[in-house]
Amino acid sequence: KKWTTAQRYAAYSTYSDATLTQLIAAQRTSRWHLNYHVQPRSGLLNDPNGFSYFNSRWHLFYQNFPFGGVHGLKSWRHVSSSDLFNWQEDDLSLLPQAPYSTQGVYSGSAIPINDQLFLMYTGNVRTDDGGRISTQLGAWVDANQHLTTTDLPLINQATGYTAHFRDPQILHVDGHYYAILGAQRADLQGQILVYRADTATGPWSLVGPLDLGHRDLGYMIECPNLAFVDGHVVLLFCPQGLDRERVPYANVYPNMAIVADDIDWQTARLINPGPLTNLDLGFDSYATQVVNGPDGQAHTISWLGLPDTTYPSDAEGWQGCLSLVKTLHVIDGQLQQKPVAFPESDVPFDPFRDTLKGQEVLYVDLPAAVNGQLTLGNAKERLVLNVTAGQLTIDRHAAGAAVGSTFGDTRTLPLSAGPHHLALYLDRSTFELFIDDGAQVASGRFFPQDDTPWHLTSTLNTPVRLTGQRLPTL
Ligand code: FRU
Repeated sequence: KKWTTAQRYAAYSTYSDATLTQLIAAQRTSRWHLNYHVQPRSGLLNDPNGFSYFNSRWHLFYQNFPFGGVHGLKSWRHVSSSDLFNWQEDDLSLLPQAPYSTQGVYSGSAIPINDQLFLMYTGNVRTDDGGRISTQLGAWVDANQHLTTTDLPLINQATGYTAHFRDPQILHVDGHYYAILGAQRADLQGQILVYRADTATGPWSLVGPLDLGHRDLGYMIECPNLAFVDGHVVLLFCPQGLDRERVPYANVYPNMAIVADDIDWQTARLINPGPLTNLDLGFDSYATQVVNGPDGQAHTISWLGLPDTTYPSDAEGWQGCLSLVKTLHVIDGQLQQKPVAFPESDVPFDPFRDTLKGQEVLYVDLPAAVNGQLTLGNAKERLVLNVTAGQLTIDRHAAGAAVGSTFGDTRTLPLSAGPHHLALYLDRSTFELFIDDGAQVASGRFFPQDDTPWHLTSTLNTPVRLTGQRLPTL
């Protein structure tokens, strides 16, 4: 189906219940339906939003266009969890509403305040002349999951900036509220703006553009997120149009990270920022949100998908899923992203003998100087990890229906001599590879079309210790 702009922005009320029911069924019965990742109930999922801990539960929303596998009229849809891996769909949405979010409820964050959860998000409005109006909006969710939007915008577009002005993350630091948001300066430079307020509903005032210690980060920055990790400040953001000579990345847009000693909120400046690093060296990862939970630990979750990209499941009317939740640490100045531990499964699983059902985690101990291939697949389709001296290449070219091939079908990660430990999480149409407990991460989607079971084969030149676990269907 080819979508016109008018169709993509049509009000939800123009769709019948039968259409929604059919789309929900199509997602559920898809061969690419995931077993243990957050995926859209129907339609398209993109950014994680409002990741927070409130009322003794983890809360999360996702950007959703419920009526097709396309970026249409966006809303937030809610899921919640007690343990960060088993997420339950709740019947709670933040829906587009005139006059400030008529053409979409865009990304944002959440913070518990007293006995409510406060949401701060972007309202998107398209004007008749093809222009855009972006405002930062607020909403309250009470303990009964009843949602009320605030009447007026909290923050209007800043002077000297374009309408690409979105994705606020609200933080509470030293008695003040701060919001950082993605922006585009009038001369088309990507920026992060810092705002301050004494109460979440404002008045909000601009502190200034954040000095990241790195300039010329492209023409737009989306989804800036900040967390406190092991005595450091970690900034995650998605620069668009970043020069690949500056930091190599293969995807259309990267999700970058900076580890700094601290942040000076008064002057909006990162203190002693480290290098720009790519958060995920795989194929499909973007718009990571991070939140410091009640115990102070910082947890992340990402969209396993990319903007401006089509996926094979679009034809079935759905697209996108979220990553596993990871816990951040800073070790010797480097970011570590460790997946949240699953409960031990008591299903015996032998990775070399048993078939892969697409819900396994494989653990591989790679001795130093090993090379060869680990292949997961059948006679027709396969996902290949190729280990050579100094690097690991993930090849998805034969893993099923083509996806994102314009940007290449392989991703290569540097790998020192070793030894190394790999953990590879599989879930029907996603993989997430963690090297050395999350010192490097590479994630991606793949879309098998053949139903013959997959097996694991190894041509590694040294015997490796390979164990595994079958993960539950949640
Ligand atoms: C990132 C993004 C955000 C925006 C949202 C709209 O993927 O473009 O900047 O708020 O998606 O769905």
